[in-house]
Amino acid sequence: GRVAVLMGGDSAERAVSLKSGEAVLNALIAAGVDAHGVDVQGSLLSVVENHEFDRAFIALHGRGGEDGTIQAILSEADIPYTGSEVLASALAMDKLRTKYVFEGRGLPTPKFRTMAAADDADEILAAMRTPLSVKPSREGSSIGIRKVNTRDELVEAYQVASQHDPIVLVEEWIEGPEFTVSLLQGHALPAIGLSTDHVFYDYDAKYLSNDTKYRVPCGLAPDDELRLQELALEAFRAVGCRTWGRVDIMQDANGEFWLLEVNTVPGMTDHSLVPMAARAAGLSFEELVVRILADTLE
Ligand code: DAL
Ligand code: MG
Repeated sequence: GRVAVLMGGDSAERAVSLKSGEAVLNALIAAGVDAHGVDVQGSLLSVVENHEFDRAFIALHGRGGEDGTIQAILSEADIPYTGSEVLASALAMDKLRTKYVFEGRGLPTPKFRTMAAADDADEILAAMRTPLSVKPSREGSSIGIRKVNTRDELVEAYQVASQHDPIVLVEEWIEGPEFTVSLLQGHALPAIGLSTDHVFYDYDAKYLSNDTKYRVPCGLAPDDELRLQELALEAFRAVGCRTWGRVDIMQDANGEFWLLEVNTVPGMTDHSLVPMAARAAGLSFEELVVRILADTLE
């Protein structure tokens, strides 16, 4: 049947999604799939009105497309779609609630709390080890995230984060290195190690900088990489994800791993991490998208 690649959307990650969607669409067409792109704008309900497709490949990032909303609309319309279902999508979009689940399952995640406008910044600084990472709970691509050390920085970072989401997460900073593990059909792909000249792997380091370094193989001893992959799989399963995703993990100076979050519609641009990990496992971009699509048939 016909496949629609849903891309764009109205989230802050629209530009990234258009790139992911374009790459996915081209690969599906090259693989002989009858696919077309749908730029999703305005009401998500319009996607299923008078639709001319039998399955959807979701290449939407961020709120609306990655948070369970489009997944619920597609399932109500009986249209099979790629990736995680409603609950896991909504949960993974919310970093705070994801951490509650990690903690509930005994999985390591940096110490955290929420911050509200009325909260005393000094009290937070006294109770937690600096530096801190201040994040909007439901956002992607590192949008709205700041690293802070001082009271003034914390207050300012709160202002920035709260513009993206009323739920602001404050987390103890782990210096890194950062790793990311891609999951595909029940298996972990080779881990990727990340390094950047930026303060952290932020939006510019992700999409604009040519100086960001990606290590595949990731540079860990084989046993450590296995431990990292196992942890990523556990996180993916704890959140209840399906088919594919990517788990972001920090390593501290003692070699311990700390889970940051799970992404249920990771970037699929030509510089993105999941395609890079797939390539390291011997899978072309085309084979990767065909596999992700294949799971919608079940
Ligand atoms: N949120 C971006 C697209 C990612 O996780 O790759
Ligand atoms: Mg994310």
